[in-house]
Amino acid sequence: MEFKQAAKTRRSIRRFEDREIPREVFEEIVESARFAPSWKNVQPARYIIVADPAKRAELAQPECVFNFTFNLATLESARAIVLLTYVKGRSGYERDGSFSTPKGAFWEAFDAGIAAQTFCLAAHDKGIGTVILGYFDEEAIRKAVAIPEEQAIGAVIACGYPAESPAAPKRKEVGELMEMI
Ligand SMILES: Cc1cc2nc3c(=O)[nH]c(=O)nc-3n(C[C@H](O)[C@H](O)[C@H](O)COP(=O)(O)O)c2cc1C
Repeated sequence: MEFKQAAKTRRSIRRFEDREIPREVFEEIVESARFAPSWKNVQPARYIIVADPAKRAELAQPECVFNFTFNLATLESARAIVLLTYVKGRSGYERDGSFSTPKGAFWEAFDAGIAAQTFCLAAHDKGIGTVILGYFDEEAIRKAVAIPEEQAIGAVIACGYPAESPAAPKRKEVGELMEMI
């Protein structure tokens, strides 16, 4: 898919077909996502793909989404729930563990965000719908899925073959967003 088309037609998808996503499809998506830029190329992002129905059901619980029923419905519909994690203490840090800049640990979330968008665009290119979920309770999720101690969850991404095709929410015009000096 051509870049402009991919960027413009990717939508957050919250309803999915009852159809599992083959492992090879995720391998191709991560094959693209791994080219996302990162702080000093430390490549902190990891993709824990929860596809097993029983495990998925453990994540599609009110306590995992702060009782936000809107997200609960999305997780119930998803055919894979991706825990996009990042290895802590790398992005924005020096080798001795000190912060590289006054922005401190800000770059960890920044790198996770770039990885998330690259993942979502690559998924879109493969016909897989995604939605990034910010309402998630990391502690509750860790009780259901074993996540390595040194990793933190940057985002939860619900995935599946789309069962809806929402219109694009209104975007600000270029003139509102850009300034050239
Ligand atoms: C950091 C972040 C957190 C988000 N959290 C949620 C969420 O918890 N639940 C949800 O349904 N959508 C969530 N979204 C999706 C946004 O609502 C969506 O991207 C926005 O409305 C624009 O729609 P579009 O993705 O179709 O262009 C999140 C998106 C981002 C980038």
